[in-house]
Amino acid sequence: MPVYVLSKSQTFHLTDNSHFSYILKIAEDPAAGKTLHQIYWGAAVSDGCLDYLCDEYQMDLASFDAFTQVPPFAYPTSGRGDYRPAAIRAVGEDGNDCTLLTYQGYEVRAGKPVPAGLPHVYTEDDAEANTLIIRMKDEKTGLAVALCYTVHEKLHTLTQSVRLENNGTHTVTLYNPASASVSLRGGYDMLHLQGAWIKERSIERIQPMHGIREISSNRGASSHQHNPFVALLRADTTEFTGDCYGMALVYSGSHRMLVEQNAFGYTRFVGGVNECTWKLEPGDAFQTPEMMLVYSDAGLNGMSQLFHTMIRTRVCRGFWRDQPRPVLVNNWEATYFDFNTDKLLGIAQKAAQIGAELLVLDDGWFGKRNSDNCSLGDWVVNEEKLPGGIGLLAEKVNELGLKFGLWFEPEMISPDSGLYRAHPDWCLHVPDRPRSERRQQLILDMSRKDVQDYVIDAVSSVLDSANIEYVKWDMNRNFTEAGSAMLPADRQGELHHRYMLGLYRVLEEITSRFPEILFESCSGGGGRFDAGMLYYMPQTWTSDDSDAVERLSIQYGTSVAYPPAAMGAHVSAVPNHQVGRVTSLAFRGHVAMSGNFGYELDLTALSSEELDEMKEQILFIKKHRRLTQQGRFTRLASPFEGYITAWQFASVDQDELLVCMFRRYAKAGAENEFIRIRDVDVNAWYEDEDGKHYHGSALKQIGLLPHFPFGDASSRIVHLRKVKN
Ligand code: DGJ
Repeated sequence: MPVYVLSKSQTFHLTDNSHFSYILKIAEDPAAGKTLHQIYWGAAVSDGCLDYLCDEYQMDLASFDAFTQVPPFAYPTSGRGDYRPAAIRAVGEDGNDCTLLTYQGYEVRAGKPVPAGLPHVYTEDDAEANTLIIRMKDEKTGLAVALCYTVHEKLHTLTQSVRLENNGTHTVTLYNPASASVSLRGGYDMLHLQGAWIKERSIERIQPMHGIREISSNRGASSHQHNPFVALLRADTTEFTGDCYGMALVYSGSHRMLVEQNAFGYTRFVGGVNECTWKLEPGDAFQTPEMMLVYSDAGLNGMSQLFHTMIRTRVCRGFWRDQPRPVLVNNWEATYFDFNTDKLLGIAQKAAQIGAELLVLDDGWFGKRNSDNCSLGDWVVNEEKLPGGIGLLAEKVNELGLKFGLWFEPEMISPDSGLYRAHPDWCLHVPDRPRSERRQQLILDMSRKDVQDYVIDAVSSVLDSANIEYVKWDMNRNFTEAGSAMLPADRQGELHHRYMLGLYRVLEEITSRFPEILFESCSGGGGRFDAGMLYYMPQTWTSDDSDAVERLSIQYGTSVAYPPAAMGAHVSAVPNHQVGRVTSLAFRGHVAMSGNFGYELDLTALSSEELDEMKEQILFIKKHRRLTQQGRFTRLASPFEGYITAWQFASVDQDELLVCMFRRYAKAGAENEFIRIRDVDVNAWYEDEDGKHYHGSALKQIGLLPHFPFGDASSRIVHLRKVKN
């Protein structure tokens, strides 16, 4: 039973009985009554130690007189002397944000309640999870707060979300109601994933400090800049050892995560929505997005592996979740807007010849779109470019033995479009302010039901019109003038979150109408790489930077929170279009093989030798993609620390390993380049594809020597299979 209620010590012990414990305690506040504290999160402890833990904790509290500055409130509020970041600011009819949440009761349930309208970690059976719901209330305003903690026993993880309900008689205004608040003793390094367009998810590790470290997005998207993920690590935590706490939001919009360390040795984390001022009328409720909480004592890799399994198997859904993902050829970097049927079919013929499985037609097939300055919203095929329409093109592509896929950017509207001329108020805008264009486009107001319905109908009718088996769902700009013509002045602060609720409704509707279509999300590359999007679309285009050397860092950084099976990774042309670098086809292939593999270059411009090499690459991928998509991924050597990058995939039974090793530049008199292998059976022999044998203990203790080919940007992939014990 993963939720233990211990009445003697007034504690709730959430645990998977192996990896972690999370302990909440009802505490008596001398002035205020019963409040709720979160007194422990870390390696699993037994119930037997709870008395000790509680005694220690009481002594800790008693040693300070400024009571409210110390307790690790489970859901801290503002206005009562806890000067640290609050999980909720709630303002009642008197205009004051002083809020006092007192404990009302609890409930334990098998399974997991679903946060309505929001993506979440799901269960397939009630036996997979147990949920503790703790009810709190602010007597003065009538604000009822239900803290919902679910233990996912087999995933060894916890999720938290909060439901706030106005049971009073007056409006309560909520400011950024958080999904979770966590307290830890001691100072922690904070690790997060920062970046920008074409340089997403660089790992940054920041030393502890007294004060607040914040990462956030106010862009209406989870963003290229700050991924909605934070890890807290001990100073000595490495990729392989030590305490590591990961928090990742299942949400794709504006978010914020704060980490504060105070002078008394407590670290507080608070995270959830951002740019959210929500008027809660009597009888109304607000549901926060869900936070995934992961603890590992096996360092960053340990944490990542828990996230990977959770996201791959219980966030991603549907037909494609466990299916081998098709090898695709995308025409974007091959043609940009300059294509016609003949050009596309020429590429498709070569794609079929090398063994690819899917041709994706990217931007430019609709309206009069020959550049990025028009037609978004007019989802009608441009018959000048594609006579006979998408239906005929899809048929011809299918005749070649390939599936056909199509690009959309459904949340956008071009000022030069029929849709905008008909509905100038359908975009996000603020009256009497200029409408700021980015990439010459505006954003549709997805908070509006009529706009949502339009998008559902427009996309569905194209998908109904042809045999489309893959969709790339793009989103190429962030919010400006975030106002809605449908919302009254005092609800404009709800727009950011209402946009997401609207978008999620649209995605739920479209993906359930077309359950066998493989959806891939994209946002100018990886501007919305988050668990929220992965709930609807099981893969995301990782970055618009397709240079293989740069991709090493981008894919490595992304893997800190997200599984390789979620990452789109393509081989593109040389010189590379983003940085001009020339690398070998072998190197580009090796980098892309670790994600959902594709080519994004003009196959008709390549030599027969290159096409033959691609054929070999595809054969290799088809042979190994089950391992790269479902195996256990471990980072071995970091591109952020040296010139060698390495990672590996291992089958659950350790029978098979794929070790991927890359050297960005050659070095004369190179140092020790052995890569130590993990997840290996130390009592077994392994054989590589050339028949060479390696003992598991040697692979683990000494490592594998990559024998990189001569020159810069070189790589080697070694496949090892267990031969005998
Ligand atoms: C941005 C995407 O990331 C690219 O792959 C491509 O689809 C373009 N948009 C098309 O406009």
